[in-house]
Amino acid sequence: MNLNAPLTIALSKGRILEQTLPLLAHAGIAPLEDPETSRKLILETTHPQVKFVIIRASDVPTYVQYGAADLGVSGKDVLLEHGGEGLYEPLDLGIARCRLMVAGKPDTQPPTSRRLRIATKYVHSAERYFAARGQQVEIIKLYGSMELAPLVGLADLIVDLVESGNTLKANGLVPLEHIADISSRLVVNKASWKMKHETVNALLTLLREAVTTRSAG
Ligand code: PRP
Repeated sequence: MNLNAPLTIALSKGRILEQTLPLLAHAGIAPLEDPETSRKLILETTHPQVKFVIIRASDVPTYVQYGAADLGVSGKDVLLEHGGEGLYEPLDLGIARCRLMVAGKPDTQPPTSRRLRIATKYVHSAERYFAARGQQVEIIKLYGSMELAPLVGLADLIVDLVESGNTLKANGLVPLEHIADISSRLVVNKASWKMKHETVNALLTLLREAVTTRSAG
């Protein structure tokens, strides 16, 4: 791929990285060191004009919004929480698919003397979902292990990602309501989109091709 501008791509370790690397490889871009084991936060790639920055998944939209990275790969769950300001979201990579759901004990009854309590790390998505249904709820922000909250009486329900459903099942919970389908998206800084359009577009075309080829295979 011929690039006439340098590009910084923000990626996060784990499932997203694992599933994004084959797509980037299709565009001729591979890290020179294994990002899963390297402790470096900036990685050179096989393309002299492209580098990766390795950051927390929830920080990817922020780096791209402020132009510290031109592009990034971010879960739609994270983008829904971030709000998408300063970003374009031109391509659904179709990876790391799951659902954002309301879940709880199978026999959950709405409380009579107080608001329904919802434990989640997806505060904005949960607020929007219940507000749209005209339901007044109390949101309790957690950072993980949401499944525990209904079991110990911290919350009536949770809003969390469900992939196989095994975590819910193992904790005696059931999925109750579907909020959104989630997958990872390519995000692009709005200024980079304008100033480096040719370069960003060349990469976008190759990634789109890789996504199409993968879904056809
Ligand atoms: C996610 C999510 C659930 C689990 C769902 O957590 O929060 O706990 O995966 O997957 P399942 O339906 O296939 O069981 P993850 O492992 O990504 O860690 P997190 O708690 O840090 O989000």
